[in-house]
Amino acid sequence: MKPFGPLLLVLAVLASAASGQDAPPAPVPIELPKIDIDGSVDDLLAQLSLEDKAGQMTQLTIGALSRAAATAQDPDGHRIDEEKLRHALVEKRLGSIINMDGAAFSAKHWQTLITTIQEIATAETAHKIPVLYGIDHVHGANYIHEATLFPHATGLAATRNLELAEMAAAVCARETRAVGIPWTFAPVLDVGRQPLWSRFYSTFGEDVHLCSAFGEAMVRGLQGSGISAPDRVAACGKHFIGYSFPFSGRDRTQVLVPERYLREYFLPPFWDAIDNTGLKTIMVNSSEINGIPVHANHSILTKLLRGQIGFEGVVVSDWEDIKKLHDYHRVAPTMKEAVRLAVDAGIDLCMVPYDFSFTDLLVELVNEGAIREEVLDESVRRILRLKYELGLFEDPFPAADAVEIIGNVEAGELSLRAARESLVLLKNDGALPIGPETRILLTGPGCDLRSPLHGPWSYTWQGRDEEAYPRSIPTLLHAFQAAHGRENVRFVPGTTYDGIIDLERAANAAHAADVIVCVLAEEPGAEQAGNIDDLALPAAQARLVRAVSFGKPLVLVLLGNRPRIITESDSLANAVLWAGYPGPKGGQAVYEALRGIFNPSGKLPFTYPRAPHNLVAYDHKFSDTADRHFGFNGFNPLYEFGHGLSYTTFESGNLVVPVTELTLADTLEFSIDVANTGAREGSETVEVFVRDLYASITPPVKRLRDFRKITLAPGESRTLTFRIPVSDLSFHNQQNMPVVEPGEFELQVGGQSAKFTVL
Ligand code: NOJ
Repeated sequence: MKPFGPLLLVLAVLASAASGQDAPPAPVPIELPKIDIDGSVDDLLAQLSLEDKAGQMTQLTIGALSRAAATAQDPDGHRIDEEKLRHALVEKRLGSIINMDGAAFSAKHWQTLITTIQEIATAETAHKIPVLYGIDHVHGANYIHEATLFPHATGLAATRNLELAEMAAAVCARETRAVGIPWTFAPVLDVGRQPLWSRFYSTFGEDVHLCSAFGEAMVRGLQGSGISAPDRVAACGKHFIGYSFPFSGRDRTQVLVPERYLREYFLPPFWDAIDNTGLKTIMVNSSEINGIPVHANHSILTKLLRGQIGFEGVVVSDWEDIKKLHDYHRVAPTMKEAVRLAVDAGIDLCMVPYDFSFTDLLVELVNEGAIREEVLDESVRRILRLKYELGLFEDPFPAADAVEIIGNVEAGELSLRAARESLVLLKNDGALPIGPETRILLTGPGCDLRSPLHGPWSYTWQGRDEEAYPRSIPTLLHAFQAAHGRENVRFVPGTTYDGIIDLERAANAAHAADVIVCVLAEEPGAEQAGNIDDLALPAAQARLVRAVSFGKPLVLVLLGNRPRIITESDSLANAVLWAGYPGPKGGQAVYEALRGIFNPSGKLPFTYPRAPHNLVAYDHKFSDTADRHFGFNGFNPLYEFGHGLSYTTFESGNLVVPVTELTLADTLEFSIDVANTGAREGSETVEVFVRDLYASITPPVKRLRDFRKITLAPGESRTLTFRIPVSDLSFHNQQNMPVVEPGEFELQVGGQSAKFTVL
């Protein structure tokens, strides 16, 4: 057990009980499995041959079993190749299949496909073992054409609304399971501390506590209180571990990190999700840490994950990563040695995903005595147990009428709410809200495309194919015109993502408008396709901002993956709204935020850098003023983690800490008053930071230890009470163990601070 683990759970329960926000829907009552799962797994395992076991440990992409892929124009153009499928299931005893082929399918097509697969698996194979189908549904069921999509993870984290995130995940689970898919490769539990990284958008930001809290909320939403329920799925925490911290920022490249740092900043979201939510599966980091590819790292996958953390679920490799031990990482001179290394390290299921090389080599390795068959037994036991827990042995088929709930109105409203709450108002000199009769010029590359609202993993893997998006989803331009009147909204693109179209036309149109809304955007790129060499905003977009900046109110809207450097553009703008990838309701939400139809409440889940090399997180080490110690650390961001404005004002005061001398077994309790001192209703997130004044490892200036979002009417005030177990204030010491050292601490909350001592 992780030291202090259960205390985290207690705190989460207390926090959610006290939050007063909408509760997620009650889980559908679950019938407990009538079968003894362990007994059934043992009986079945005893009947399996070596070839059966190797097959169960194999996962192929559906693309390898198809004869035609779906296209954006024809989402149901996908055709399964029944001969290949039968060969895979019957001859090769394939245990698992993943993803879609080409572009998202319709729900009906999915149902037919899953039914075909499960019919062959359960009727024609020797042991009638159902297939474990998994899919990348990472911000809603993004590979089902009619499904509900939500903001990507950075946006959800900006909402600071855990209940909302849990509800969004529950919708994803319900819509995924409705087509017969019981497993999704989500959530991403990587911590976003490298803004250059191509998958930054898929993290809950730079803070460990935030990532843990949102990761747990997502797993709760996906798995509910039991994964055999017809509206839940097994979740997959990924990518264990350290994947988000490549030295160069490029995807799947070298991570250089001390073990202490790995444990302090990257391990907790995984450990917490396993301990507190019963996370069922884990996907492995594709890259190498300190020279050892994680897929070949026994110390990480077995000693740490199984031994220390006690994870009992399934560990799946990432795409082709066992092969990559041979032909990319080059730690295995042959593919066979790569298989040996990975299975020995602790991989249960190999996402091969195109052929049976892994399967055949695994059989050979066991026959040659290079791998013990008992090692396979352990992995297959976990895979079969998951299939039993999902209820697949009882019924692996989708219910025909289940598709009716997909993309329903209620889920769409939740997506709109998530989009609204995800928006972060970074700057406002009074230009916002925009009045109802104003003439708006929309300019910039993000105005009339659906892809930069959605980001990657949207109908296609990269999310770039505009044709793949349902026409019913409004672009930002459509949403503005629908709500503000076509006659009052003019659109001149000005630039593409990185090329100039016509700056002069944009500037001329700006002269004729009352307000200029410049929608800066980053083209989606899921993994390697999202690699960049420069965090600066593309020059063309910076030039567009200059061209339309001449004294008229100028509003920047930022769509995209990560904080591109906008320091100059920001200085020219009157207001700036960060929107990330807000999803299908993003156009409407952005319009309503700028008009003040609702009051923005999002808070940055990352630190917005001022310069490309000034990549310092908010919880940096001690940083003094420039005239003393030369301003070590130079923390001078454009906007700090937690920043986010409102159309009302809040004031906090009366921080009361009744007991200021505490032991490790105690709980720090305090209260603070928060008042809405402005003229309209608004939501505020109170973030609780603690600073360890002196420690044996250089302490950060502060760490987020709790947060709570509340809504207050004008003039209303509320006293919030927090309880934080002292054990939650730990850090990893020189022995890489979490400790709380005696000494003085400083509590920082709502602009107030108070000291307390741990004895
Ligand atoms: C590669 C990605 O790294 C991972 O996140 C995803 O789940 C798998 N491929 C499956 O598509």
